[in-house]
Amino acid sequence: MSFNWINAEEFSFNSFLLMDRWIVRMICNNYAGCGEYCDNLSIALAYNPSVAWYFAHKSPESKPSIEKMIAMAPKNLTPHEIRKAEVFVIHAMETAVVYVYPDIMNQNCDYIYGWDKQLLFELADFTDKVVLDLGSGTGRLAFAAAEKAKSVYASEPTDMLREYMRDKIKRENINNVVVVDGTIEKIPYEDNSFDIAMSGHVVGDNYDAQIAELSRVVKNGGYIIDCIGEDNRKREPDEELIKRGFESLYHVSISGGDIYRYRKLVRK
Ligand SMILES: C[S@@+](CC[C@H](N)C(=O)[O-])C[C@H]1O[C@@H](n2cnc3c(N)ncnc32)[C@H](O)[C@@H]1O
Repeated sequence: MSFNWINAEEFSFNSFLLMDRWIVRMICNNYAGCGEYCDNLSIALAYNPSVAWYFAHKSPESKPSIEKMIAMAPKNLTPHEIRKAEVFVIHAMETAVVYVYPDIMNQNCDYIYGWDKQLLFELADFTDKVVLDLGSGTGRLAFAAAEKAKSVYASEPTDMLREYMRDKIKRENINNVVVVDGTIEKIPYEDNSFDIAMSGHVVGDNYDAQIAELSRVVKNGGYIIDCIGEDNRKREPDEELIKRGFESLYHVSISGGDIYRYRKLVRK
């Protein structure tokens, strides 16, 4: 799916030097051996040895795919042909590219810039609560919750986004948000640590395991919240969440998208 959040022509292929291991692994391994994407990635890596070196060292598990791709790249390409391949890959990976440019992510991603924090506050009472935000991104949910909560733990596996949030905390003297590394698959906190565990655009790869982890860290009587931002996509409610006991709240976004927000009361 293409979101057109960026104009790939304007981005250097060196952007990939800012990426974390989990993204490098996704770029190299998810797509290994697959048609047009792989052909272009092969060229881009073969003609950008610094990026290829960085990928192979940052994600050693991807080294065999990287070597295979470099070996299959055609020789003696023109600068124009190389740039075309780079732009193809940058465009294909735009969702990962925006993670290393948090300001651009805030400006260009409709789910962030078009969002109103009241949409979060309608889902639960955050007053004086201890809150976890999984996959915080630039902190859309975390900083909103912090206006009411006692403390917010913003967990984010992408280094550039963690640093973006830390800079914002310092700049704006925010004293109740803590930024941490971590993924939803293995939340770095003890059982029953939070009143609310929330996320947006994160849950979905493995509902059972992810919801079990969220439930584990929420106290009895607390909430799990899934609150996506605003966009123009037509969608159906997420039956996987509903059949696991989530309540959904629906509205149409200003740009005509079907937006479902979800909450689940945790009983232990
Ligand atoms: C589409 S962004 C959404 C950011 C933010 N939740 C929001 O709605 O504004 C997805 C975020 O999830 C993070 N992420 C990716 N895989 C993750 C995982 N397994 N566990 C936790 N976060 C993850 C990404 O680094 C990115 O910041």
